[in-house]
Amino acid sequence: MTLQESIEKAAQCIREGKLVAFPTETVYGLGANALNPLAVAKIFELKERPTFDPLIVHIADLNDLEKLTLNRDERVYRLAEKFWPGPLTLVLPKKDLVPDLVTSGLSSVGIRMPDNEIALELIRKSGCPIAAPSANKFGRISPTTPQHVRKQLPEVDFILEGGKTHVGIESTIITLNKKGFEILRHGIITREEIEQVVPYYSEKAKPASLVAPGMLKSHYSPTKPFYVLSDAVLQRVDKTKAGLLSYSGNHTEGFAQVIRLTNTQDLKEYAVNLFAAMHQLEESDVECIVAEPVPEHGIGLAIMDRLKKAAHKSR
Ligand code: TXA
Ligand code: MG
Repeated sequence: MTLQESIEKAAQCIREGKLVAFPTETVYGLGANALNPLAVAKIFELKERPTFDPLIVHIADLNDLEKLTLNRDERVYRLAEKFWPGPLTLVLPKKDLVPDLVTSGLSSVGIRMPDNEIALELIRKSGCPIAAPSANKFGRISPTTPQHVRKQLPEVDFILEGGKTHVGIESTIITLNKKGFEILRHGIITREEIEQVVPYYSEKAKPASLVAPGMLKSHYSPTKPFYVLSDAVLQRVDKTKAGLLSYSGNHTEGFAQVIRLTNTQDLKEYAVNLFAAMHQLEESDVECIVAEPVPEHGIGLAIMDRLKKAAHKSR
């Protein structure tokens, strides 16, 4: 099948209410027609995802923003202009057209325009916005290749192949308030970059009911114990049976396996390689995985968020 034929076939699946795994610039998504609640229900079922965790809706055309949201905020257009297509999700007041299942009953919907030509073609050919979480089982490692999708979701109706994703971690998610924006999930687009368009302003008194991705403490977890490197962890694990995800190239001695995610301490490169390296160690014969922490600023915030959540169950 040529790429064009694959996209056609994938779009047909979406129109028929089926599920399609497709590439975006961040991770592979598990997509369904966002306006068809029965199709969307299949996402939750296949992923084994709790329905209190809302989905991101992917669009290919700015006009869809008006179809799906009640937005009248010109700041949204400035953000879209600067960051779309790209890994920034905006949480905006939704119109009734967006099924409650997509937003877990919230009055807002998360929307983004992915920076991936295959994804954009798929959305255009499907003729509808596509709701998609990452194409993995709930709480497990996100997929950055078609093979990762096949490993966790072999039952999916169709996998649209588009090679390895080039950002590697999920989009930055923000919400707007009267004075500025707040970050709900860190990603490759940093607070500093967004601040060039809209000021940062955190409303401290947020209702606890706001379901943000970051609010789930455990996520992105391999099926083996996962630790963030520290003296305490070094005392606890047997290095000769452990795999190390290395950032600096230091402290590698004695580990059964070492994966160096970047040779130049480049956090973007680290992010691109992170989930693939986690999958690789999950499939290898090491008994546990240890990740060296990275500096917690800029993209490092997004990376540390993933590492801490992956480690949460193993504390
Ligand atoms: O890069 C990405 O964002 C990838 C690709 C496929 O686009 N998608 C992704 O989706 O990471 P998912 O489902 O793994 O994470 C989406 C997160 C959810 O955890 C959810 O809590 C949050 O977005 N979200 C969605 N709608 C929201 C809303 N209305 N309010 C607050 N958070 C929302
Ligand atoms: Mg996910």
